[in-house]
Amino acid sequence: MSDLDAFDRLLTRRHSCRGFLPDPIPEETIERIVATAQKVPSWCNAQPWQVTVTRGAQTDRLRDALFAEASTAAAQPDIPFPTRYGDVYKTRRSTCGWALYEAVGVEKGDRAGSARQMMQNFRLFEAPHFALITTEADLGPYGVLDCGAFVIAFTLAAEALDVASIPQAAVAAYAPFLRDWFDLPEAREVVCGISFGRRDDTHPANGFRTGRVPLDEVLTFKG
Ligand SMILES: Cc1cc2nc3c(=O)[nH]c(=O)nc-3n(C[C@H](O)[C@H](O)[C@H](O)COP(=O)(O)O)c2cc1C
Repeated sequence: MSDLDAFDRLLTRRHSCRGFLPDPIPEETIERIVATAQKVPSWCNAQPWQVTVTRGAQTDRLRDALFAEASTAAAQPDIPFPTRYGDVYKTRRSTCGWALYEAVGVEKGDRAGSARQMMQNFRLFEAPHFALITTEADLGPYGVLDCGAFVIAFTLAAEALDVASIPQAAVAAYAPFLRDWFDLPEAREVVCGISFGRRDDTHPANGFRTGRVPLDEVLTFKG
């Protein structure tokens, strides 16, 4: 198999996992994932990502506290959230949202049901581990971009080791809480979290896959 075929197979295999088994991931496996993800390029090789991983009871304490925070506090992300999903973005967003709701049995119009599913973000989808990803504020949007590359590489390296994961921007809405919880300096901005562990294949939320738009919607040649 060519390197590209192997890479493509890994990309195809990975998907966002929203139902995990409680089994912890060995420390060496987590270290291997982070060490591999670190190999992504970054502007000036700044490598702005910092990763804090929770284990065992720490993850349970965090999910309880974060769920309580998200149930009452107002959103206050460090990195501004999208202001609008217009045009194709609106369609793509609702297509993947409805695929999830259909998989978990939430019907159209069931606002309480969709809110309940959304709140699962703050229970970290019951994953045994959570990785908080932060950037250095001074590095601005390109620092965030570098962290994005790291996040995706993390998910792919994890998948290669049969560790399922999901990047979560939802948790970044509670950046002040997370900064406090993890005792982070003011200069660190919360980019997102990654919940990870072994996939629960029987979980309904894992029963759908998203698609991608045709190439001609993203690729243009000139000349
Ligand atoms: C930066 C980033 C943030 C995301 N935040 C969330 C989130 O907060 N909650 C969630 O359920 N999914 C989140 N996702 C997962 C996306 O919904 C998912 O990647 C997308 O629908 C494509 O599906 P796939 O990952 O299964 O291929 C996020 C993905 C990325 C890359």
